[in-house]
Amino acid sequence: MKILILGADGYLGWPTAMHLANKGHSVLAVDNYARRTMALETSSEALFAAPNLLERAKIFKESTGEEIDVRIGDCAEMDFIGEIVRDFQPECVVHYAEQPSAPYSMRGPREARFTLENNLGTTFSLIWAMIQHAPNCHMVKLGTMGEYGTPNIDIEEGWIDINHNGRSDKFLFPRQAGSLYHTTKVLDTDLLWFYVRTYGLAVTDLMQGPVYGISTAESDLDDRLMPHFHYDDIFGTVVNRFVTQAVSGVPLTVYGKGGQTRGYLNLNDTLQCVELATNSPAEKGELRVLNQFTEQFSVNQLAEKVSEVGNRLGLNVEINSVENPRKELEDHYYNAKHSGLLDLGLEPNLLTDDIMAGIITKVQQYQSSIDKSKILPRVKWS
Ligand SMILES: NC(=O)c1ccc[n+]([C@@H]2O[C@H](COP(=O)([O-])OP(=O)(O)OC[C@H]3O[C@@H](n4cnc5c(N)ncnc54)[C@H](O)[C@@H]3O)[C@@H](O)[C@H]2O)c1
Repeated sequence: MKILILGADGYLGWPTAMHLANKGHSVLAVDNYARRTMALETSSEALFAAPNLLERAKIFKESTGEEIDVRIGDCAEMDFIGEIVRDFQPECVVHYAEQPSAPYSMRGPREARFTLENNLGTTFSLIWAMIQHAPNCHMVKLGTMGEYGTPNIDIEEGWIDINHNGRSDKFLFPRQAGSLYHTTKVLDTDLLWFYVRTYGLAVTDLMQGPVYGISTAESDLDDRLMPHFHYDDIFGTVVNRFVTQAVSGVPLTVYGKGGQTRGYLNLNDTLQCVELATNSPAEKGELRVLNQFTEQFSVNQLAEKVSEVGNRLGLNVEINSVENPRKELEDHYYNAKHSGLLDLGLEPNLLTDDIMAGIITKVQQYQSSIDKSKILPRVKWS
């Protein structure tokens, strides 16, 4: 299949590009290095410096013989993305190209505006590129479980049937996000639904939980192929942050009471889910929503897991509750459905002690690069 990957230099985009190229797909990888720039601007550099996208593609070719084509540019620019879609004629586009950090989006008006314009801009420009140049192409769009917030009812898989005054209809499940970043994802979903029902596009919107991990089959071939690994308070996801804190002897920073519960998944399961969605596309005129996570944990449960495994590996892991910089419920009901991807064939890699030990051991190799000044929360919601 001809697959276009937007945001292909990112934590998820690069492993996805390698994985799909290794499966024999023809992959075109696009990025504008926005993440690298934001990381530099906020002193949030990754644990190790990754080669740029062109160099990564070259190293990948040397390791596997497989090609990944690369284009550098801004996917929010309609002309740029329009030309790419027109010339490449993808059968599937995997859309990762957004600003993905909640704290970054809450840092101030400049960052908020960038997040809003960039995230809606890339989605909008891609929609029009598809309408004009590849109307039969399937879009696999990365959303987030954070779109739903933490309602006091079960979270359905995208859609809900509502009975009201004796009549019933089906609607997008109510969304109430907890940061501006998550709100841009809600707006993306609405935008997609409008264009799907009006122009007959085929879209899969993956409501993904926080991802953890650093190793995939392809990144294990050469350390220079590893994804960016962020452990700071702005760009690091919670498991990756806790592991790095454990390795560097900083007490794990549990925000507030630590009862915040979310659905998590292994980086390798992101690759599986995206591949499964790609292989069985949504119908034209369908907005298929799949909740993409494999198991639920509270922040306290994650901290305990990291601490147990870390201590067994000889670390001295402490857990410390710090003032919560976010506005969120710290103790709440959470039960989210997630059967769609399992039905498509997902075989979850759960967060076992072995998996956790593997992440810890990998991070230990880079222990001397950890900058402890990036660990405590630097951005408050208000
Ligand atoms: N990592 C997670 O835990 C997680 C969880 C849920 C959803 N997501 C979503 O998955 C997607 C990928 O996340 P990630 O963790 O890999 O983030 P990332 O920041 O590492 O990757 C996103 C990539 O998109 C690029 N990009 C952003 N704007 C662009 C633009 N205008 N033009 C071209 N490239 C642009 C960035 O430079 C970056 O390389 C995001 O949409 C994110 O919201 C991620």
